[in-house]
Amino acid sequence: MSQLFTNVKELPPDPLFGLKARYVQDKRLDKVDLGIGAYRDNNGKPWILPAVKKAESKLVNSPDYNHEYLSISGFEPFFTSAAKVLLGEDSPVVSNNGRIVSQQSLSGTGALHLAGAFLKRFYTGNGPNPTIYLSQPTWANHKQVFESLGLIVKYYPYWNNDTKSLNLQGFLNTIKEAKEGSIFLLHACAHNPTGLDPTQNQWDQILKELDKKKHFIIFDSAYQGFASGDLEKDAYPIRKAINDQLITQTPIIICQSFAKNVGMYGERVGAIHVILPQEDPAFARAIKSQLNLIIRCEISNPPAYGSKIVSTILHDPELYKQWKEDLKTMSSRIIKMRQTLRKKLESLGTPGTWNHITDQTGMFSFTGLTPSQVERLEKKHGVYLVSSGRASVAGLNDGNVNKVANAIDEVVRNTDSSKL
Ligand code: LMR
Repeated sequence: MSQLFTNVKELPPDPLFGLKARYVQDKRLDKVDLGIGAYRDNNGKPWILPAVKKAESKLVNSPDYNHEYLSISGFEPFFTSAAKVLLGEDSPVVSNNGRIVSQQSLSGTGALHLAGAFLKRFYTGNGPNPTIYLSQPTWANHKQVFESLGLIVKYYPYWNNDTKSLNLQGFLNTIKEAKEGSIFLLHACAHNPTGLDPTQNQWDQILKELDKKKHFIIFDSAYQGFASGDLEKDAYPIRKAINDQLITQTPIIICQSFAKNVGMYGERVGAIHVILPQEDPAFARAIKSQLNLIIRCEISNPPAYGSKIVSTILHDPELYKQWKEDLKTMSSRIIKMRQTLRKKLESLGTPGTWNHITDQTGMFSFTGLTPSQVERLEKKHGVYLVSSGRASVAGLNDGNVNKVANAIDEVVRNTDSSKL
């Protein structure tokens, strides 16, 4: 049968989901999952946010509740209020249909895919084959999403491993040297995998340089509210670029996920927003119609349940308040775990410096552990993290943080630690 096809090679498992599968198969009772970025409570269990529980009960008990198709664009009350979460209620853009096009997407990945498919078809700002610059390193899925759509992928320096800080100069130089009109993908906050975000002043410099070269920005916003516990603060670069008009020459695309900040990972709730620098209602309508065509071909219309839950939260002042508290609950537990892990490593005298664990923000810590140290952590100790050394801090809790610190201490002392 295979002779009817060419080149159907078996691929290795996905780095993140393959890791999860190994973790599930591991029989050790004290195994620890620091792999996929999903919030866990202090007992290591998935957490349904109280805001979500209340919204679910409100939704299913409402007389209008049904499982009808949504429109091709998705649930309008959801994606219009989702734009307000990103840009703020009083943003001049959110109520201007000539400047913003919003559509529901299959979470952040679906939004990135829509952005890539749209740009590949229509964007000519940097030549016939759009080039997209990703941070080095970036989320493992970015490269394959854009390459699978035919975009050319390049990188801008981001992480300086010697100083465990932002390589701002390298980043700015790449912006200056890239061909005018290149696409730059920016992590809006809680950079995945490094947990390292530019400061507000650094963001201003980055955005100004991007605007000078008429580069096209895609913001990947998957962790709003997770970095600081504050939705406004975590939207800084987006609001600076759009509301404060640091970007004046090109449209901007925002890919928004509610997987993490509402804790509805499996429901695939997200949105794509295209923001035009000036009002152009006819162009906005044309973009919407083209996005609708892509959606109709690929998924017909988006899933309803998760978007209705998120919309219920965003439209009910009590639930919205609860959600903000839930964000604080999650982000402050993660911050506490960062502090505890760092303190334990420092008190064990583990070789290396560990301040980066508390300097970093959001779901992840880029520990600086080498692939061989990560492998030893998994094999010898049953502690699972991505081979890049990225650890999901949300997987730590009072019951396992000592074990993890001791395990890191052991592998650092007993394997090559040149990267630390
Ligand atoms: C992660 O980076 O762990 C998450 O975004 C899960 C995923 O889909 O890769």
